[in-house]
Amino acid sequence: MKNIRNFCVIAHIDHGKSTLSDRLLEYTKTISEREMQNQALDNMDLERERGITIKSHAIQMYYDRGSDGQKYTFNLIDTPGHVDFSYEVSRSIAACEGALLLVDASQGIQAQTISNLYLAIEHDLEIIPILNKVDMDSAMIDEVSDQIIDLIGCEKEDIILASGKTGRGVPDIMEAIVERIPAPEGDVDAPLQALIFDSVFNPYRGVIAYFRILNGTLNKGDLVRFVNTGKEYEADEVGVLRMSQHPQPKLQAGNVGYIITGIKESKEIKVGDTITTVDRPCENAIQGFEDVKPMVFAGIFPLDNDDFEDLRDSLEKLQLNDASLVFEPETSAALGFGFRCGFLGMLHLEIVQERLFREFNMDVITTVPNVSYNLSTKKGEISTIRTPSELPDHNYIEYVEEPYITAQIITKPDYIGTIMTLCMDKRGTLTKQHYLTPDRVELSFDLPLAEIVFDFYDRLKSISRGYASFDYQPIEYRETDLVKLDIKLNGEPVDALSALVHRSKAEAFGRQICKKLKELLPRQQFVIAIQAAVGAKVIARETISALRKDVTAKCYGGDISRKRKLLEKQKEGKRRMRQFGKVEVPQKAFLDVLKLD
Ligand code: GTP
Repeated sequence: MKNIRNFCVIAHIDHGKSTLSDRLLEYTKTISEREMQNQALDNMDLERERGITIKSHAIQMYYDRGSDGQKYTFNLIDTPGHVDFSYEVSRSIAACEGALLLVDASQGIQAQTISNLYLAIEHDLEIIPILNKVDMDSAMIDEVSDQIIDLIGCEKEDIILASGKTGRGVPDIMEAIVERIPAPEGDVDAPLQALIFDSVFNPYRGVIAYFRILNGTLNKGDLVRFVNTGKEYEADEVGVLRMSQHPQPKLQAGNVGYIITGIKESKEIKVGDTITTVDRPCENAIQGFEDVKPMVFAGIFPLDNDDFEDLRDSLEKLQLNDASLVFEPETSAALGFGFRCGFLGMLHLEIVQERLFREFNMDVITTVPNVSYNLSTKKGEISTIRTPSELPDHNYIEYVEEPYITAQIITKPDYIGTIMTLCMDKRGTLTKQHYLTPDRVELSFDLPLAEIVFDFYDRLKSISRGYASFDYQPIEYRETDLVKLDIKLNGEPVDALSALVHRSKAEAFGRQICKKLKELLPRQQFVIAIQAAVGAKVIARETISALRKDVTAKCYGGDISRKRKLLEKQKEGKRRMRQFGKVEVPQKAFLDVLKLD
């Protein structure tokens, strides 16, 4: 055990985690140059394309240290950077003793640098500060070094200068991992206690869970129990993760590995759960297990109603790889049969939608997302509202409650004013203002969750030039004045565009949507009236003037094949349209309408 090191890499998004991890894999010859593709760990297409890490990944490498003739086993856990996935970061961190803290030398300390660092410090991880991308002309080595010293209170000599591009600093990082990160502790003879920090679904083998053993030994063939779910299974295969799975007869305390039990449903395995043996169970589960709760709900409908069953099938498969996705059937007057889905945040929603398209060839329409509300009616009935259609008429409502969160924002004092203005505009109240250092201030706000799911994070980033770290936890439900905002096209309500909003925000929101729709809807052969209404009262309106559209008019002469091509093209365009009364709405409009500036 003394030669094992378990660590993760934490950084703000795009500071170069995946690229540097690739260099470590190369240096330890875990991956040959031939196998080397950029960002080997980001193996989903979507991850590669967007250049972001969505799922955590674990990988084992061996380091042959020349100086003391010892061999070391390194378990590297790659973590995602975006706040929507911070649940995965915290689980990964719990499986490690140390963390490489990467800071981009051209960007300096940023939002997620700080919140991930705090998570790591909370778990008592040894931090190795690394100034990355020092090859860049715009690298500000002295300035950013000072920021790091200021933030974690280390010495200048502790900071390793590195570049994932040129490989500079990689040998120093290897040595620092051995020297500075403590070897894991734990008792190999104690009852088994292993923490699940991630899981993936394999169509042939079922669910594969990744774990870190804190105490005890896990043998192939052991009968194991998942403490929180209470399920029992046989360990068909256990092993370590290199570029692929390497089965082992047993794994001991301190190590990181995978287990395959033949489980076919992702629900059966929960990240954060403890694995123990049925024979000799451990007394306590590992602390900190919590169910992931969806924060944002939206309807997802197939473009073509005949694809409903296919959509169900695709969502079920996707759920196996993404346990945080939940869904149930829903019907819409405008869109037919579909599903009400729950997501961790807006980025999660976007990713699910894109994965449906890429991996399952499912073209879908998403409705305006909302949070869930508690409703109490005049008759004393209590229920949960997850869709605009569930909100009854005002006369029936005793009260409605909405979820609140407490947000911590860490920023420079220069930005306090603009951040306060933003949070007030989002119906927030300041609860704490605390200077961490003369140059860094922590602000706490109570905010309605509904106000932060849309564009809060982006706006915060832009008004603070990226220099604000943001984190939040749900606190409680509080009474609110909720209304249903309807959008009508030539008098026909489009239920997929209805939204639940606070009364004080209804008019502004309605105006924005109408204006945006005016930009997004193609002109048609008749006038289109776009209206936003609360109950019978119209609160915003836009008009699109008529157009006589004849795509073939431009084709003079009798070039019939060209004419046909054009008509076919137009038909293809229609396929991506939805009809409301006489008005056609392109699928893209449903998505883009939410991107309010
Ligand atoms: P997330 O997974 O989204 O959090 O990103 P990441 O931190 O893994 O960053 P990634 O490795 O994907 O790198 C982001 C961008 O920076 C890519 O365009 C890389 O090519 C570039 N990059 C990474 N490391 C270096 C470096 O050392 N020098 C230079 N010049 N560019 C780098």
